[in-house]
Amino acid sequence: MSTNKIRFGIVGTGTIAHRFANAIKNVSNAELVAVASRTKENAEKFGDEFNIPVRFDSYDKMAQSDVIDAAYIAVPHSGHIDCSCLMMSNGKHVLCEKPMAVNTSEAVEMFRCAKENNVLLMEAMWARLVPGTLKMLELVKNGILGDILAVEGKFCYTMDEDEMDHHVFKPENGGGSLLDVGVYGLNFASWYLGKEVTKINAQADYYNGTDSHTCVLLKYNNGAIADVSSATLLRKPNEGFVYGSKGYAYLQRFYAPQEIRLQFNNGETETISVPYAGNGFEEQITHFSDCVLKGLKESPVVTPEQTLFITKQMDEIRQIIGVTYPQDK
Ligand SMILES: NC(=O)c1ccc[n+]([C@@H]2O[C@H](COP(=O)([O-])OP(=O)(O)OC[C@H]3O[C@@H](n4cnc5c(N)ncnc54)[C@H](OP(=O)(O)O)[C@@H]3O)[C@@H](O)[C@H]2O)c1
Repeated sequence: MSTNKIRFGIVGTGTIAHRFANAIKNVSNAELVAVASRTKENAEKFGDEFNIPVRFDSYDKMAQSDVIDAAYIAVPHSGHIDCSCLMMSNGKHVLCEKPMAVNTSEAVEMFRCAKENNVLLMEAMWARLVPGTLKMLELVKNGILGDILAVEGKFCYTMDEDEMDHHVFKPENGGGSLLDVGVYGLNFASWYLGKEVTKINAQADYYNGTDSHTCVLLKYNNGAIADVSSATLLRKPNEGFVYGSKGYAYLQRFYAPQEIRLQFNNGETETISVPYAGNGFEEQITHFSDCVLKGLKESPVVTPEQTLFITKQMDEIRQIIGVTYPQDK
């Protein structure tokens, strides 16, 4: 491993792999040196598009190679555990897409594997690391909104008719809106309201055994309430609020805002611009690489405890709404 740059290999060549490959160009402590696909054709195509020197036509070959220090796992949720453990058992650090695991037993096994192989495993919860979230956390910590009593977040999109074969609609892939995008709302709620949740209520609508629309209410021991919704077949404005005793913040793309609009109870307003450095992934790549370069085996920000807390919450919500995956058995 070089002392100042982490050599990354990407696993998978889909939508999010493209976003990562674009972001890493702007990062000074990491470089993209390899891509692995299930097919030679996709590996070559992706490699050509991003000028990646090494292309593998299997994930296994990249795991066994010595050209990378770390792997970014960009396959459907159901493949996260196998791909991550394959890489980690070959000594590679892993940045794994969200949700890191389909259920808690998978997440526990993945962190166990990281420990056993003495490598860093971090969930790619990029939204926790962008400037907008850091600024919001600072504002809340400084008490600018007073006591935080409620949050709301809606991440609800609709897939096109010709996309109904997508893995987000397949239970065997850990499909459904809760795991796909509800994970952001639950993280968001925990950032501002903490972890002392005393009661969860939830309602859902379904498509093909997955939740196509889920609404969750979380009650906290201090009386605060979070209201989080997710959907794969229903569009709602992608926005959220953090409400305090002195006023509230309105956030477009609530989990990773680029602008914070504050409305205080005394009538005053303030707008704070907090743009990403690039496409929003740069900060997480920099942070992860920094952790590896420092020899850390856990991120102090996107911690294993946080990933496990949210994964357990999603298990509990799935139990309430009656969504199960083959992996639960
Ligand atoms: N952070 C974010 O903002 C964000 C946004 C979207 C998605 N994601 C996460 O990223 C992961 C991948 O999502 P995506 O939207 O990039 O998916 P995608 O476009 O379908 O790409 C997934 C890639 O994984 C590989 N793959 C391996 N096994 C597969 C299988 N059984 N079915 C389909 N593809 C398979 C394929 O690459 P090869 O055939 O080349 O091996 C495929 O191109 C998901 O866990 C998702 O939650 C994160």
